[in-house]
This record gives sequence, structure tokens and C-alpha cells, in this order.
Amino acid sequence: MSNMDTNGVGHENGEVEALPFAFPSRFAQIVGWGSVVPDKVITNHDLEQIVDTSDEWIRSRTGIEERHVAADPKETTATLATEAARRALAVANVPPSKVDLIICSTSSPEYIFPATACLVQDALGAHNAGAFDLSAACSGFVYGLSMARGHILAGDAEYVLVIGSETLSRVVDWTDRNTCVLFGDGAGAVLVAASNVPGGIMASELGSDGSGADALIIPGGGSAMPASLETVSNGSHYAKMDGKAVFRFATRVMASATRDVVEKAGLTIDDVDLVIPHQANKRIIQSSVLRQLKIPEEKVVINVQKYGNTSTASIPIALCEAIEEGRVKPNDNIVFVGFGAGLTWAACAVRWSVPVDTVGKASWWTSTRRQATYQAAAARSMWKRAMRWVYEVLPTDPEGRPIWPEEEAEKEPAAEEQ
Ligand code: COA
Repeated sequence: MSNMDTNGVGHENGEVEALPFAFPSRFAQIVGWGSVVPDKVITNHDLEQIVDTSDEWIRSRTGIEERHVAADPKETTATLATEAARRALAVANVPPSKVDLIICSTSSPEYIFPATACLVQDALGAHNAGAFDLSAACSGFVYGLSMARGHILAGDAEYVLVIGSETLSRVVDWTDRNTCVLFGDGAGAVLVAASNVPGGIMASELGSDGSGADALIIPGGGSAMPASLETVSNGSHYAKMDGKAVFRFATRVMASATRDVVEKAGLTIDDVDLVIPHQANKRIIQSSVLRQLKIPEEKVVINVQKYGNTSTASIPIALCEAIEEGRVKPNDNIVFVGFGAGLTWAACAVRWSVPVDTVGKASWWTSTRRQATYQAAAARSMWKRAMRWVYEVLPTDPEGRPIWPEEEAEKEPAAEEQ
């Protein structure tokens, strides 16, 4: 049957009228991946020096042993996101100029506005890309995969970068033991490409329940409670959490979202080769994915012990590690599933289709060319900033074009002649 045969408009009499165009077979494949975490490691024992906690309490309640934090002020959500994106582009061997869209999921953006994604776009030199931030907390990366799939299947994009990046250490109250022991910093990215190879991101399941907004929230600094001396002095700009409520919600939705997305993709739980869950707490993963869905531990990626909860970055970081460990192979059915503030949850079922053994095999020439591309991007950005400054100081004609000094000099005698 041709594609043409499958496309048509249904009539009440049951006949199908062929549309005057054919939908090509188009799939959204993950073709590149990369992650990065800051160098600085804070162990549970280090935290014992800061707040009233213990290594034993943190390990037994969460599974976390250590986390990476952005100790260098120059290390931000945008710089981590840029590095993860560069690594993903390098794996795919795709230049930044080919990227059509950059989706940066984050809850610790560089600024309220502009979007962190725009800063990444500039640093990459992705001059053909649209860019926006996605706010769905720890579910954000999976929401982003779903958005990328939609853009690609609609024919609006060939390459979409989906990034999850966080510096939660900057919004956590380091005197609040309820939260500061849980979170870590890092970023992960994937490049999603249009492809005619069947598979890729096959189905997604997104959910939200705003009645639970208070369970995990930064109350100050937004429209509801604008930043003021008071919001700073009472710590409203820090993350607040009702841990038990989040725990109960998470164990419920992780299992149901996985079940739903697997069904949407036309699979069964037994067909799933690997689950990459949001890494918030080992006990949440155990009681949802392992116990409720009865998925064996060898099919589930858990690395929360090394990174803590890196929010939206946790799934792409775990994906990269799973690839490095040889746990991802072509034709594997992989489920990404996450939950977070909002409350939100999200799952994607992916039929992995690309080989993973090309990682790190770039030639000297390819690496040098890539470096040069990013240096050129930095130079272009500086040039554009300089031009913007020039436009600000020069007088402009009625159409807003700058009048250069020599043009003005040329015009002056003419004016005198008149
Ligand atoms: N060290 C020692 N004690 C701590 C502590 C810490 N870091 N943090 C909290 N406690 C104390 C509390 O003050 C409380 O004491 P109290 O009973 O005297 O009031 C007690 O430990 C709570 O213990 P418990 O009820 O056994 O904790 P828990 O099993 O619910 O575990 C969480 C707490 C936060 C680890 C757990 O609820 C959780 O993981 N929730 C989900 C959080 C999450 O994933 N958030 C991110 C979503 S993306």
C-alpha cells in the first residue's frame, strides 16, 4: 500500500477520498547525546558539616551519596546547557547551523527572561534556530522530547536540540536539610532528527495537576510575590517542598505514565528493554518501576547515588551513562519517565535506532573544525553586540537605518548648497 493509499478524508458513507498529497514517512530519531556535570562534588559527609543530617539518613531515605554543584560562579545553567548541546552535536556530527529549534528545559534559568535557550543558541552559533525555555520542572526534558517529536512530525523542523539543564544549588536553601541534601547540578542534551528510519520517539504521555502546585515551589520572585527585601529576608526565593506529598504522587504517576506510554506505543511492559526514570530518589524508582510494574532491576537505570536529583537534567545524564555502559542498543525499546513540580509527569517511548559505538571517534581535523565553529560563533556574537552599540550611538534615518559619519559629511555640503 502506498502512502497515498493511507491518507484520505473519511465520508459518512464510509468512502475515503484520497488527499492531493502524500504524507512522507517521517520519524523523530535521537541521533546525538551529551551531558556534563560541574567538577565540584559534595558528599553526604560534607553536608553533615553544614546541616543537621547524616550520611545514613540521606542514603537510606534517598539512595543519594554525593552530588555535583556549580561552585564556580561562571558555571551557570546556560554554560552547562551549551556544553551538553555541543557534545550532542558532536556525537551526531551535525553543525549548529543545521539546528532548527532549541528547547531548553530548566527550573533554574539564567534569568526570568530572556530564555536560557537563546543564550545557548548564541553560544552555539545556531543562527537558523528558534529557541525557547520549557518550564515543566523535573518532567521538562521528557516534555521537550514530546515537543521535538511534534515539530519534526509536522514537518516544521529537521533538527531539534532538547536540553535539560539546572543549577539548583543556586535556588536551594543550604540551611534547609529537607531540600539541600536532595539536589545537584548538571545538564544533558539530545539532538532529535527527522528520519525515514522507522522508530525513534514513538509515543508520549504528558500530565499535570496544578492543585499540587504548593508541594514543590519557589514562592518568591515571580508575579504572585515579586522580589523585595522581604522575600529575600524570609527566604521565599528558595525551593520549598512537602516531601511526603511529592513522594506519594511520584510513586503513583511513574507507574501509570509508564504503563500508558507503553500501551500508546503498541508495546507491553515485557517489550521494554530499558527504563530511564527521573533520578529523584531510589525508593521512588523501586516502589514504582520495579515493584508496581515488576520491571527487573537490570532493565532500569539508577545513578541518583552519584548526582542527586538534577531535576530535568537527570534523564539525559542517565541516558548518556547508560550508553557509555553499553546498556543501549539499536532496536531497544526505551521508556523515559519523569515527574516534578507543577505537579507534572511525562513519559516517552523510544525505539532506539542509531548505533552508539561512534562516540568519541572524531578525527583531529573534525574536532579542530568544531572548535573553530564555536570560536566563530563567539566572534559573530561580539560583532553583533558591537553593531547594536553602534546603532545606538549613531543618528538614524526615518526608516531606522544608521547614518554613518561619512554619509552625514557627504550630505552636509548638499544641504548647504540648497
Ligand atoms: N536529615 C535528617 N533528618 C531529616 C532530613 C535530613 N536531611 N530531612 C528531613 N529530616 C527529618 C524531618 O525533619 C522529619 O523529622 P520529624 O519527623 O522530626 O519532623 C523526618 O526527617 C522525616 O522523616 P521521614 O518521614 O522518615 O522522611 P521520608 O521517608 O518521607 O523521606 C524525603 C523524606 C524528602 C527523602 C522523601 O519524602 C522524598 O524523597 N520525597 C520526594 C522528594 C522529591 O523527590 N522531590 C523532588 C521532586 S522532583
